[in-house]
Amino acid sequence: MADTPWWRHAVIYQVYVRSFADSDGDGMGDLPGVRSRLGYIADLGVDAIWLNPFYPSPQADAGYDVADYRDVEPTFGTLADFDALVDGAHRLGLRVIVDLVPNHTSDEHPWFRAALAAAPGSAERARYLFREGRGPGCDLPPNDWQSVFGGPAWARVFEPDGSGGQWFLHLFAPEQPDLDWTNDEVRAEFESILRFWLDRGVDGFRIDVAHGLAKDPDMPDIVAGQQTSGPARAGHPHWDRDEVHEVFRQWRRVTDSYDRDVAFVAEAWVETPAQLARYLRPDELHTAFNFEFLLAPWDAAGLRAAIDSSIQALAEVGAPPTWVLSNHDVVRHVTRYGGGDLGLRRARAAALLMLALPGGAYVYQGEELGLPQVIDLPDDVLQDPTFFRTGGVERGRDGCRVPLPWSGEEPPFGFGPSPAPGATVGHPWLPQPAEWAGLTAARQATAPDSMLTLYRQALRLRRSLAEEGAMTGPLEWIDVGSGPIAGDVLAFRRGTGFACVVNLGEEPADTPADLALGARVLLASGDVGDDGRIQGSTAIWYGSDRL
Ligand code: NOJ
Repeated sequence: MADTPWWRHAVIYQVYVRSFADSDGDGMGDLPGVRSRLGYIADLGVDAIWLNPFYPSPQADAGYDVADYRDVEPTFGTLADFDALVDGAHRLGLRVIVDLVPNHTSDEHPWFRAALAAAPGSAERARYLFREGRGPGCDLPPNDWQSVFGGPAWARVFEPDGSGGQWFLHLFAPEQPDLDWTNDEVRAEFESILRFWLDRGVDGFRIDVAHGLAKDPDMPDIVAGQQTSGPARAGHPHWDRDEVHEVFRQWRRVTDSYDRDVAFVAEAWVETPAQLARYLRPDELHTAFNFEFLLAPWDAAGLRAAIDSSIQALAEVGAPPTWVLSNHDVVRHVTRYGGGDLGLRRARAAALLMLALPGGAYVYQGEELGLPQVIDLPDDVLQDPTFFRTGGVERGRDGCRVPLPWSGEEPPFGFGPSPAPGATVGHPWLPQPAEWAGLTAARQATAPDSMLTLYRQALRLRRSLAEEGAMTGPLEWIDVGSGPIAGDVLAFRRGTGFACVVNLGEEPADTPADLALGARVLLASGDVGDDGRIQGSTAIWYGSDRL
């Protein structure tokens, strides 16, 4: 393991900066807040952090609308705070990954302002995707592409005299105009942005919408069956096009020129692991989020298929698989898996499953506390553009972004300083449920059966087993027999000395006969009976010299 690049087996903790820790009491998390809690992250036993965007931004999409790629949004701190955070993380042995948003800028980025001020056909407009409209008076969008957040993917520019002008493409919100990646200036600028952060010491980049940078230059309408959101099929006019790969080859040459292991992580929503693997060819990006695994329902056959196809497809290009259960865009998995006690038990088992698989894994802040999705946020606090652009039909993603509960009995639960009694400012930017008093990190830290304790134990054990050479081998499925209950069981070994068994059903299941006699329980996500059976919704890690 020692000479394997860190990103091939790292557990990366996702820090959603807005909601992690608020150092100055404005209700919004910030970089000094993250720095103050680095000890907690290191104690958890992860290897790296990924910071969601903290750059200057009007926050039309929670920072994924970047107005300046080389600075820090004042609400989140300063560049000096960033440097101190990187330094503090490195001292604790944590690597730092930042979020790169190359598909679009903010509409307040100087480039877009210049584009609006310039004439059609100008060099300023050529950095974005401006086109003439269709129909009489060019009143209709250039094509039928839809924004991922709802509504058309085109917005019209109005000239100072009020007359309608060109249209520009925005696959997300209108405040996020898409860049034209065939433009040399765009390519040169992002190469320079990469170097800016690499020179500040970052260890990697998470690439936002990696599958979206290239568009069909003819901009045709979407053909039947090619939806705009969701995983893209081959031949789509703006998702997962071959031309994106040249961009990543250029970037890989940049990171390879640095004298340390730097990692790119692709956010690429594509339909199959085989499509994903193309982003991870040896001269492109290093790893990618595995949405196949995240989206798989709580079902043994479905999860096994997702695991197998991911491992196989990525092995063909020499890339490690990665595993993820939650992030800031999806419903938290405690809720996705059924919510309540059932969702929690399944989430505990899923954590042991994920952390036993080969390759890397992602932990989204708060999943180690077993936080559920907050489903009853009032309309007037919602900020996600999805909510507004669908006229409220979709509630959006705010429910998985509620600030963390750290300690105490009432909001803000140590997220930031408590606002003065009666104060209208200084409350967390999204309200925390009162019942999160039972889920605070402080309370869970000393509870032997808490989710936090489980994550700490699993992450530490994962690390020490890897150091001992156990849990480093390829995944090999163990025969679980047949029958309705066995059909709910997943069992595998990782080389010699380690095995993981997960019972996804609700009935107790027999321990697979193939599990060597004398295998001892290293860690279990739930109760382990004396009869050797595995309770429902429970995962167990076993160790034995004879496995
Ligand atoms: C993916 C990010 O994870 C999401 O939060 C964002 O809204 C879109 N990309 C657009 O940047």
